[in-house]
Amino acid sequence: MARILITSAIPYINGIKHLGNLVGSQLPADLFARFNRALGHEVMFLCATDEHGTPAELAAAKAGKPVEAYCAEMHAVQAELARGFRLSFDHFGRSSSQRNHRLTQHFAGRLADAGLIEEVAEKQVFSIDDNRFLPDRYITGTCPNCGYTAARGDQCENCTKQLDPTDLINPRSSVSGSTNLEVRQTKHLYLRQRALKHKLEAWIDSKTDWPILTTSIAKKWLNDGDGLQDRGITRDLYWGIPVRKGDQPWPGMEGKVFYVWFDAPIEYIACTAEWADAHGLPDAAWERWWRTDKGAADVTYYQFMGKDNVPFHTLSFPATILGSGEPWKLVDYLKSFNYLNYDGGQFSTSQGRGIFMDQALEVLPADYWRWWLLSHAPESSDSEFTWENFQASVNKDLADVLGNLVSRVTKFALAKFGDSLPEGGSAGPREAQLETDLAARLRAYEGFMAAMEVRKAAAELRAIWVLGNEYLQAAAPWTVVKTDPEAAGAMVRLAMNLIRVFAITSAPFIPDASTAMMAAVKSDDWSWPHDLPAALRALPAGHGFAVPDNLFRKITDEERADWQVRFSGIRS
Ligand code: 2FM
Ligand code: ZN
Repeated sequence: MARILITSAIPYINGIKHLGNLVGSQLPADLFARFNRALGHEVMFLCATDEHGTPAELAAAKAGKPVEAYCAEMHAVQAELARGFRLSFDHFGRSSSQRNHRLTQHFAGRLADAGLIEEVAEKQVFSIDDNRFLPDRYITGTCPNCGYTAARGDQCENCTKQLDPTDLINPRSSVSGSTNLEVRQTKHLYLRQRALKHKLEAWIDSKTDWPILTTSIAKKWLNDGDGLQDRGITRDLYWGIPVRKGDQPWPGMEGKVFYVWFDAPIEYIACTAEWADAHGLPDAAWERWWRTDKGAADVTYYQFMGKDNVPFHTLSFPATILGSGEPWKLVDYLKSFNYLNYDGGQFSTSQGRGIFMDQALEVLPADYWRWWLLSHAPESSDSEFTWENFQASVNKDLADVLGNLVSRVTKFALAKFGDSLPEGGSAGPREAQLETDLAARLRAYEGFMAAMEVRKAAAELRAIWVLGNEYLQAAAPWTVVKTDPEAAGAMVRLAMNLIRVFAITSAPFIPDASTAMMAAVKSDDWSWPHDLPAALRALPAGHGFAVPDNLFRKITDEERADWQVRFSGIRS
């Protein structure tokens, strides 16, 4: 039994995530966690909300709530949606937890002790009316290059020129619109990432099995242009983790907090501690996942994230870990995703374009979305959600192939043999062939799942369902029963066992349908079919079954057209 640690990139607290966010981290991570649990491995699967930073503060202000209350509320909303999508986190934590405060301060203290922190004096724009320093992108003004009047302090979106806030003509605060701004002196802590370049490079070079997308992004940031930059890890904000050196104050840094991207990945560790606290377990229980000196040496650690997160996970977070000089676990395998686009454009949280997690579940149950999203995961390139494609996949793969198999077999069996499996008959060459074909496909499926090749795994699973359908079509027990009821009975027994095997193997993708299938064949033995011939004989003659409600319904053309219109506009 292996020990497998899985983290999904932690979603920002401000607002409900769209399906593009979901398929880029949480959902494939869940698929992998479920698969490994099904194989009997010891899995720790973690996610959390990423709660700090200016966007959270501003979203809270917009909602007219104190930021602490806003985050608590939005955490509950995101946790509920995660349950709705059947994301099987062992813990869904919060980056604002006390555990994360302590660990973040601990890492900063270790980095300082190692001589890897530098204090840098800077000038920054202060908004007098807002009574706060403004991050560059929250200052708006006229671009000196092209005259665009809504250029941001970091970059002009019209001509793409990189800007300094002081370049802007007529600058104003994007928070309040106030022009009452001044440049003030401030001081920040920088992590000397450049000093860690060789260690990071050696570590990345040792990862020969990483996907090209991951490695190429890491190397680009390591070597391009000026290469790895030292990084400011503090901010002049109210909301965040107070800057302290371990459990000591940090003279001169009073009133400042750590930068959100410094504390967010540390939450992966803190989240495991939150999990232990929630279960009344001692520190040793979470440390055995993270500290190689305390039992984590045999853990394999997998991270899932969108491609925009890769630099932070291949360089910044490892710099924190390596720089600490302590034996914390580093990621072993980093699975990154391209973007999912929406119907000819991009999903956009700021513009409210696309389908958001809450809306998706209002329209259809989780399995429908899980199946489409995972079987179209943006792995080798960006992919696109269209309603036509969604309708076609659901109707064909889920309703016609899998749903229909289950309904035909159970209804026919009930009509001809009553509510328990018939006796008699024996397997012939067709059944032997099915077993051989199925075994080959199952091994391929396991291989793709273990390699996190999500699309290929989905294609293989679909092919497994098709094998079942083709068998049934060719064997035609409904015809055979007229002349040889025992032979038809043997086919029904096999088909019912197929349903169980399909339930177990499909559960990582469509957990609710799998539960319904297991209920239909009255089994609670979820053991993985390593021994396929045995698994296909697990339910014997006399074993009861029931006809389940339709597993999947078809999406009509009217519904599709309706949803297309409903989700075309901007979410208010
Ligand atoms: O891109 C995002 O959604 C970030 N909130 C991801 C953070 S992942 C990590 F660092 F914890
Ligand atoms: Zn411009």
